[in-house]
Amino acid sequence: MFKGKTVLTGVKPTGTPHLGNYLGAIKPAIALGNQATNHFMFIADYHAINAEKDPVVLNQKIKEVACVYLAFGLDPNHTVFYRQSDVPEITEITTILYAYTPKGLMNKSHAYKACVDKNREAGKPDDDGINMGLYTYPTLMAADILTFNTDIVPVGRDQIQHVEIARDIAGAFNAHYGEEVLKQPTYYIEESVAVVPGVDGRKMSKSYNNVIPLFADDKEIKKAVFSVPTDSRPIEEPKNPDEILVYEIYKSIATPEQLKEMADGLRGGKLGYGHIKNMLLSAVLDEVKEAREKYNYYMENYHEVEEMLKKGAEKARPIAQATLKRLKDKVFGR
Ligand code: ADP
Ligand code: TRP
Repeated sequence: MFKGKTVLTGVKPTGTPHLGNYLGAIKPAIALGNQATNHFMFIADYHAINAEKDPVVLNQKIKEVACVYLAFGLDPNHTVFYRQSDVPEITEITTILYAYTPKGLMNKSHAYKACVDKNREAGKPDDDGINMGLYTYPTLMAADILTFNTDIVPVGRDQIQHVEIARDIAGAFNAHYGEEVLKQPTYYIEESVAVVPGVDGRKMSKSYNNVIPLFADDKEIKKAVFSVPTDSRPIEEPKNPDEILVYEIYKSIATPEQLKEMADGLRGGKLGYGHIKNMLLSAVLDEVKEAREKYNYYMENYHEVEEMLKKGAEKARPIAQATLKRLKDKVFGR
């Protein structure tokens, strides 16, 4: 379904990933991108400044996210890989799109509404701490997408609304000029991607402190895996694998054969909790072994990554310039 299509993926620079980020976002994004005829992937650094005001921290996060994607096999020869801020046409396009964005659409954006709700709960004024970058960010996201004539935007469920806003803005622009100036994108949800549970059984998330990190040293990864709670039943007692959290986490990463081996061992009273934790640990370490080596290489030789991002922006800009020209010709009647 991605043959002949232009797919665009935006990633936030959020720091080093955990197993949930990798299996839920990074791995599928790279796989989908490889199937697309044209793939654009960018680091959403202008989006990030709304929340992160420390340039040192932000710069580090941008570096990390670039190295993570390359380490996991993003191919910069196939994918146009760039930083949003290296393609200034996107922000010019945003300015034009503002004129076609009803304010009411921004009021309805989940990201903004979530902040207002948080303020209300804390008894603060609605707009406390909310900047215009956050308020208007669906328009910048629309520009991210529309600039590259995108057909498909793979997203998590929380981002569906933003792609719909991009469609609406493009639709409003096209309707005004009576022709298709901007391509209207659709979103794509990978149904097979499951939520990875964390070491406490809730969704694995930075904010719950329950993650299995991927780029920490082996000891730290082992510590996380071994912190998964288990009971004191003896090895010989047959156990239902579906009631065991280690097995639930293993499901997200193991091959069907590996999974069967663990399930049979638990049911038959042959595998104890120490065994299954070691199996999970091995699976995690195997999955990321090569990526961790590459990640360290790229972090140490970041100038090479800079070069790749620069080249990506050089490929992206002519397309962005063409879109900008099309829009300017329309709005200024040139
Ligand atoms: P976190 O919850 O750790 O703050 P983010 O919100 O930054 O993670 O998520 C980054 C990406 O990783 C999103 O696309 C999100 O859907 C995905 N993701 C995060 N946690 C998980 C998880 N436990 N299982 C599957 N995907 C996840
Ligand atoms: N808003 C997205 C997120 O929070 C990141 C993003 C910015 C994006 N611009 C985009 C995603 C364009 C897809 C397309 O994850």
